[in-house]
Amino acid sequence: MPDFTFVATGAMVAAAGAKPVFADVNPKTFTIDVAEVERVITARTRAIVPVHLYGQPADIAGLTRLARRHNLRIIWDAAQSHGAHSQGRDVGSFQDVVCYSFYPTKNMTTGEGGMLTTSHNSLAKQLRLLRSHGEASRYRHVRIGFNFRTTDIASAIGNVQLAKLPKAIIARQRNARILTQGLSGIPGLQTPEPAPDTGHAFSLFTICIDAKHAGMSRDELAAALKQCGIQSAVHYPLPLHRQPVFRGYGLDRDFPISARLARSVLSLPVHPGVTADDCHYIVQSVREILRVGND
Ligand SMILES: Cc1ncc(COP(=O)(O)O)c(C=O)c1O
Repeated sequence: MPDFTFVATGAMVAAAGAKPVFADVNPKTFTIDVAEVERVITARTRAIVPVHLYGQPADIAGLTRLARRHNLRIIWDAAQSHGAHSQGRDVGSFQDVVCYSFYPTKNMTTGEGGMLTTSHNSLAKQLRLLRSHGEASRYRHVRIGFNFRTTDIASAIGNVQLAKLPKAIIARQRNARILTQGLSGIPGLQTPEPAPDTGHAFSLFTICIDAKHAGMSRDELAAALKQCGIQSAVHYPLPLHRQPVFRGYGLDRDFPISARLARSVLSLPVHPGVTADDCHYIVQSVREILRVGND
Protein backbone atom coordinates (compact mmCIF):
# COMPACT_ATOMS: atom_id res chain seq x y z
CA MET A 1 0.00 0.00 0.00
CA PRO A 2 1.16 3.57 -0.60
CA ASP A 3 3.05 5.43 2.12
CA PHE A 4 1.21 8.60 1.10
CA THR A 5 -2.54 8.32 1.78
CA PHE A 6 -5.16 8.82 4.47
CA VAL A 7 -4.55 6.68 7.56
CA ALA A 8 -7.66 4.55 6.96
CA THR A 9 -5.97 2.73 4.06
CA GLY A 10 -3.36 1.31 6.43
CA ALA A 11 -5.83 0.84 9.28
CA MET A 12 -7.97 -1.36 7.02
CA VAL A 13 -4.98 -3.63 6.36
CA ALA A 14 -4.06 -3.82 10.05
CA ALA A 15 -7.70 -4.36 11.10
CA ALA A 16 -7.81 -7.38 8.79
CA GLY A 17 -4.91 -8.88 10.78
CA ALA A 18 -2.39 -8.24 8.01
CA LYS A 19 0.82 -6.23 8.17
CA PRO A 20 0.79 -3.03 6.13
CA VAL A 21 3.92 -2.67 4.00
CA PHE A 22 4.41 0.78 2.54
CA ALA A 23 5.71 1.67 -0.92
CA ASP A 24 6.66 5.10 -2.24
CA VAL A 25 4.50 6.93 -4.76
CA ASN A 26 4.96 8.28 -8.28
CA PRO A 27 6.14 11.94 -8.27
CA LYS A 28 3.66 12.97 -10.98
CA THR A 29 0.44 11.14 -10.08
CA PHE A 30 1.10 10.72 -6.32
CA THR A 31 -0.32 7.18 -6.58
CA ILE A 32 1.59 4.02 -5.67
CA ASP A 33 4.72 3.37 -7.74
CA VAL A 34 4.47 -0.06 -9.40
CA ALA A 35 8.27 -0.65 -9.36
CA GLU A 36 8.37 0.21 -5.64
CA VAL A 37 5.57 -2.30 -4.96
CA GLU A 38 7.50 -4.99 -6.81
CA ARG A 39 10.58 -4.29 -4.66
CA VAL A 40 8.75 -5.08 -1.41
CA ILE A 41 6.74 -8.16 -2.49
CA THR A 42 7.74 -11.27 -0.53
CA ALA A 43 6.39 -14.81 -0.22
CA ARG A 44 4.16 -13.52 2.59
CA THR A 45 2.51 -10.79 0.49
CA ARG A 46 -1.18 -11.44 -0.10
CA ALA A 47 -2.63 -8.31 -1.64
CA ILE A 48 -1.85 -4.90 -3.08
CA VAL A 49 -3.88 -1.95 -1.79
CA PRO A 50 -3.51 0.96 -4.23
CA VAL A 51 -5.23 4.29 -3.63
CA HIS A 52 -6.79 6.40 -6.39
CA LEU A 53 -5.56 9.50 -4.57
CA TYR A 54 -7.41 12.82 -4.93
CA GLY A 55 -9.50 11.29 -7.76
CA GLN A 56 -6.46 10.29 -9.86
CA PRO A 57 -6.64 6.60 -10.80
CA ALA A 58 -3.53 4.63 -9.89
CA ASP A 59 -1.68 2.71 -12.64
CA ILE A 60 -4.40 0.07 -12.91
CA ALA A 61 -2.91 -1.78 -15.89
CA GLY A 62 0.59 -1.95 -14.37
CA LEU A 63 -0.65 -3.02 -10.94
CA THR A 64 -2.98 -5.64 -12.39
CA ARG A 65 -0.13 -7.15 -14.43
CA LEU A 66 2.08 -7.21 -11.32
CA ALA A 67 -0.65 -8.80 -9.19
CA ARG A 68 -1.26 -11.52 -11.79
CA ARG A 69 2.45 -12.29 -11.98
CA HIS A 70 2.69 -12.74 -8.20
CA ASN A 71 -0.76 -14.25 -7.70
CA LEU A 72 -1.93 -11.37 -5.48
CA ARG A 73 -5.35 -9.85 -4.88
CA ILE A 74 -5.95 -6.13 -5.39
CA ILE A 75 -8.13 -4.10 -3.03
CA TRP A 76 -8.52 -0.64 -4.53
CA ASP A 77 -9.10 2.32 -2.21
CA ALA A 78 -11.43 4.51 -4.27
CA ALA A 79 -12.61 6.58 -1.28
CA GLN A 80 -11.72 9.75 -3.21
CA SER A 81 -12.57 8.54 -6.70
CA HIS A 82 -16.27 8.11 -7.36
CA GLY A 83 -16.70 8.71 -11.07
CA ALA A 84 -13.00 8.42 -11.96
CA HIS A 85 -12.09 6.47 -15.11
CA SER A 86 -9.15 4.52 -16.42
CA GLN A 87 -8.79 3.02 -19.92
CA GLY A 88 -12.40 4.10 -20.57
CA ARG A 89 -13.77 2.15 -17.59
CA ASP A 90 -15.13 3.31 -14.25
CA VAL A 91 -12.56 2.59 -11.50
CA GLY A 92 -15.26 0.67 -9.64
CA SER A 93 -15.27 -2.06 -12.30
CA PHE A 94 -11.78 -3.49 -11.76
CA GLN A 95 -10.84 -6.67 -9.88
CA ASP A 96 -10.82 -7.70 -7.08
CA VAL A 97 -12.57 -5.32 -4.67
CA VAL A 98 -13.08 -1.55 -4.82
CA CYS A 99 -13.78 0.42 -1.61
CA TYR A 100 -15.68 3.70 -1.56
CA SER A 101 -16.28 6.26 1.19
CA PHE A 102 -19.43 8.35 1.45
CA TYR A 103 -17.96 10.77 4.00
CA PRO A 104 -19.36 14.32 3.52
CA THR A 105 -16.30 15.76 1.73
CA LYS A 106 -16.28 13.03 -0.93
CA ASN A 107 -17.58 13.35 -4.51
CA MET A 108 -20.86 11.92 -3.24
CA THR A 109 -22.05 11.35 0.31
CA THR A 110 -24.61 9.52 2.41
CA GLY A 111 -23.65 11.52 5.51
CA GLU A 112 -21.33 8.70 6.59
CA GLY A 113 -20.82 5.23 5.19
CA GLY A 114 -19.28 3.49 2.24
CA MET A 115 -19.61 0.78 -0.37
CA LEU A 116 -17.64 -2.09 -1.89
CA THR A 117 -17.85 -3.28 -5.47
CA THR A 118 -16.66 -6.66 -6.73
CA SER A 119 -17.46 -8.97 -9.58
CA HIS A 120 -16.50 -12.12 -7.62
CA ASN A 121 -19.89 -13.67 -6.84
CA SER A 122 -18.73 -15.82 -3.93
CA LEU A 123 -16.93 -12.90 -2.31
CA ALA A 124 -20.01 -10.68 -2.76
CA LYS A 125 -22.05 -13.32 -0.97
CA GLN A 126 -19.62 -13.41 1.99
CA LEU A 127 -19.53 -9.62 2.16
CA ARG A 128 -23.33 -9.49 2.30
CA LEU A 129 -23.25 -12.00 5.15
CA LEU A 130 -20.66 -9.94 7.04
CA ARG A 131 -22.78 -6.82 6.54
CA SER A 132 -25.75 -8.16 8.42
CA HIS A 133 -24.87 -10.58 11.23
CA GLY A 134 -24.11 -13.49 8.91
CA GLU A 135 -27.80 -13.86 8.12
CA ALA A 136 -28.29 -16.16 5.08
CA SER A 137 -32.10 -16.20 5.32
CA ARG A 138 -34.50 -14.78 7.90
CA TYR A 139 -32.97 -15.50 11.36
CA ARG A 140 -30.67 -18.19 9.99
CA HIS A 141 -27.07 -17.15 10.66
CA VAL A 142 -24.22 -19.02 8.98
CA ARG A 143 -21.20 -17.01 10.14
CA ILE A 144 -20.26 -14.30 12.61
CA GLY A 145 -21.06 -10.97 11.05
CA PHE A 146 -21.63 -7.34 12.00
CA ASN A 147 -24.09 -4.54 11.59
CA PHE A 148 -22.45 -2.75 8.66
CA ARG A 149 -25.77 -1.94 7.01
CA THR A 150 -26.35 1.40 5.33
CA THR A 151 -29.41 2.95 6.93
CA ASP A 152 -32.49 3.57 4.79
CA ILE A 153 -32.16 7.30 5.40
CA ALA A 154 -28.51 7.30 4.27
CA SER A 155 -29.46 5.22 1.20
CA ALA A 156 -32.15 7.73 0.27
CA ILE A 157 -29.56 10.51 0.41
CA GLY A 158 -27.11 8.35 -1.58
CA ASN A 159 -29.58 7.71 -4.38
CA VAL A 160 -30.08 11.44 -4.89
CA GLN A 161 -26.34 12.08 -4.64
CA LEU A 162 -25.59 9.36 -7.18
CA ALA A 163 -27.91 11.02 -9.72
CA LYS A 164 -26.04 14.30 -9.17
CA LEU A 165 -22.56 12.72 -9.40
CA PRO A 166 -21.93 13.07 -13.18
CA LYS A 167 -22.70 16.83 -13.11
CA ALA A 168 -20.68 17.29 -9.94
CA ILE A 169 -17.64 15.68 -11.57
CA ILE A 170 -17.98 17.83 -14.68
CA ALA A 171 -18.02 20.92 -12.40
CA ARG A 172 -14.93 19.66 -10.53
CA GLN A 173 -13.10 18.99 -13.80
CA ARG A 174 -14.06 22.45 -15.13
CA ASN A 175 -12.74 24.07 -11.94
CA ALA A 176 -9.55 21.99 -12.14
CA ARG A 177 -9.01 23.16 -15.73
CA ILE A 178 -9.29 26.85 -14.79
CA LEU A 179 -7.01 26.42 -11.77
CA THR A 180 -4.43 24.43 -13.77
CA GLN A 181 -4.38 26.96 -16.60
CA GLY A 182 -4.09 29.90 -14.23
CA LEU A 183 -1.43 28.37 -12.00
CA SER A 184 0.79 26.72 -14.58
CA GLY A 185 4.28 28.06 -15.16
CA ILE A 186 4.68 29.53 -11.66
CA PRO A 187 8.20 28.77 -10.35
CA GLY A 188 8.09 26.27 -7.48
CA LEU A 189 4.39 25.46 -7.97
CA GLN A 190 3.40 22.05 -9.40
CA THR A 191 -0.17 21.60 -10.64
CA PRO A 192 -1.84 18.15 -10.91
CA GLU A 193 -0.87 16.20 -14.03
CA PRO A 194 -3.55 13.59 -14.75
CA ALA A 195 -2.00 10.39 -16.11
CA PRO A 196 -2.69 9.51 -19.79
CA ASP A 197 -5.89 7.56 -20.47
CA THR A 198 -7.44 8.42 -17.09
CA GLY A 199 -10.46 10.51 -16.13
CA HIS A 200 -9.41 12.36 -12.96
CA ALA A 201 -12.45 12.93 -10.71
CA PHE A 202 -10.80 15.83 -8.80
CA SER A 203 -12.09 15.00 -5.37
CA LEU A 204 -9.20 17.26 -4.43
CA PHE A 205 -7.15 19.75 -6.44
CA THR A 206 -3.75 19.51 -4.85
CA ILE A 207 -0.72 21.57 -5.78
CA CYS A 208 2.85 21.20 -4.52
CA ILE A 209 4.87 24.13 -3.25
CA ASP A 210 8.65 23.90 -3.43
CA ALA A 211 9.59 26.57 -0.87
CA LYS A 212 13.04 27.18 -2.38
CA HIS A 213 11.71 28.11 -5.81
CA ALA A 214 8.32 29.55 -4.82
CA GLY A 215 9.88 31.97 -2.33
CA MET A 216 7.61 30.84 0.51
CA SER A 217 6.61 27.63 2.22
CA ARG A 218 3.38 25.71 1.75
CA ASP A 219 2.23 26.80 5.21
CA GLU A 220 2.98 30.47 4.50
CA LEU A 221 0.96 30.27 1.28
CA ALA A 222 -1.94 28.63 3.15
CA ALA A 223 -1.88 31.40 5.80
CA ALA A 224 -1.85 34.12 3.11
CA LEU A 225 -4.74 32.45 1.23
CA LYS A 226 -6.74 32.41 4.46
CA GLN A 227 -6.29 36.21 4.65
CA CYS A 228 -7.92 36.36 1.17
CA GLY A 229 -10.85 34.29 2.42
CA ILE A 230 -9.66 31.14 0.62
CA GLN A 231 -9.65 27.90 2.57
CA SER A 232 -6.99 25.34 1.79
CA ALA A 233 -6.00 22.05 3.41
CA VAL A 234 -3.07 19.66 3.68
CA HIS A 235 -3.77 16.11 2.52
CA TYR A 236 -1.63 14.80 4.26
CA PRO A 237 1.02 16.28 6.58
CA LEU A 238 2.51 12.93 7.69
CA PRO A 239 3.45 9.93 5.54
CA LEU A 240 2.06 6.72 7.00
CA HIS A 241 5.49 5.42 8.07
CA ARG A 242 5.75 8.54 10.29
CA GLN A 243 2.29 8.15 11.87
CA PRO A 244 2.48 7.21 15.57
CA VAL A 245 0.01 4.39 15.00
CA PHE A 246 2.32 2.75 12.43
CA ARG A 247 5.48 3.29 14.46
CA GLY A 248 8.03 0.66 13.52
CA TYR A 249 6.68 -0.04 10.03
CA GLY A 250 8.88 1.00 7.13
CA LEU A 251 11.51 2.72 9.25
CA ASP A 252 14.22 0.68 7.55
CA ARG A 253 13.43 2.27 4.19
CA ASP A 254 13.27 5.76 2.66
CA PHE A 255 10.20 7.22 0.99
CA PRO A 256 11.62 10.36 -0.63
CA ILE A 257 8.59 11.25 -2.76
CA SER A 258 6.09 10.65 0.01
CA ALA A 259 8.22 12.70 2.44
CA ARG A 260 8.46 15.56 -0.07
CA LEU A 261 4.71 15.54 -0.72
CA ALA A 262 3.91 15.65 3.00
CA ARG A 263 5.98 18.86 3.19
CA SER A 264 4.66 20.48 0.04
CA VAL A 265 1.06 19.53 -0.85
CA LEU A 266 -1.79 22.02 -0.55
CA SER A 267 -5.38 21.39 -1.66
CA LEU A 268 -7.30 24.33 -3.11
CA PRO A 269 -11.11 24.60 -3.35
CA VAL A 270 -12.43 22.65 -6.36
CA HIS A 271 -15.85 21.30 -5.28
CA PRO A 272 -18.98 21.95 -7.38
CA GLY A 273 -20.01 24.89 -5.17
CA VAL A 274 -16.91 26.77 -6.39
CA THR A 275 -17.77 28.94 -9.41
CA ALA A 276 -15.57 29.83 -12.39
CA ASP A 277 -15.24 33.35 -10.91
CA ASP A 278 -14.13 31.83 -7.60
CA CYS A 279 -11.46 29.87 -9.47
CA HIS A 280 -10.19 33.03 -11.18
CA TYR A 281 -10.09 34.75 -7.77
CA ILE A 282 -8.08 31.83 -6.34
CA VAL A 283 -5.64 32.01 -9.27
CA GLN A 284 -5.27 35.77 -8.96
CA SER A 285 -4.75 35.52 -5.19
CA VAL A 286 -2.07 32.81 -5.49
CA ARG A 287 -0.24 34.79 -8.17
CA GLU A 288 -0.35 37.97 -6.07
CA ILE A 289 0.82 36.18 -2.93
CA LEU A 290 3.71 34.55 -4.79
CA ARG A 291 4.39 37.85 -6.59
CA VAL A 292 4.12 36.50 -10.11
CA GLY A 293 2.45 38.46 -12.91
CA ASN A 294 -0.75 37.38 -14.67
CA ASP A 295 -0.32 35.44 -17.90
C1 LIG B 1 -8.03 7.49 0.74
C2 LIG B 1 -9.06 7.23 1.81
N1 LIG B 1 -9.21 5.97 2.26
C3 LIG B 1 -10.14 5.67 3.20
C4 LIG B 1 -10.97 6.64 3.73
C5 LIG B 1 -11.91 6.23 4.80
O1 LIG B 1 -13.22 6.41 4.50
P1 LIG B 1 -14.31 6.48 5.68
O2 LIG B 1 -13.99 7.73 6.45
O3 LIG B 1 -15.61 6.54 4.98
O4 LIG B 1 -14.12 5.26 6.49
C6 LIG B 1 -10.85 7.98 3.28
C7 LIG B 1 -11.69 9.09 3.75
O5 LIG B 1 -12.14 9.32 4.77
C8 LIG B 1 -9.87 8.27 2.31
O6 LIG B 1 -9.71 9.52 1.86
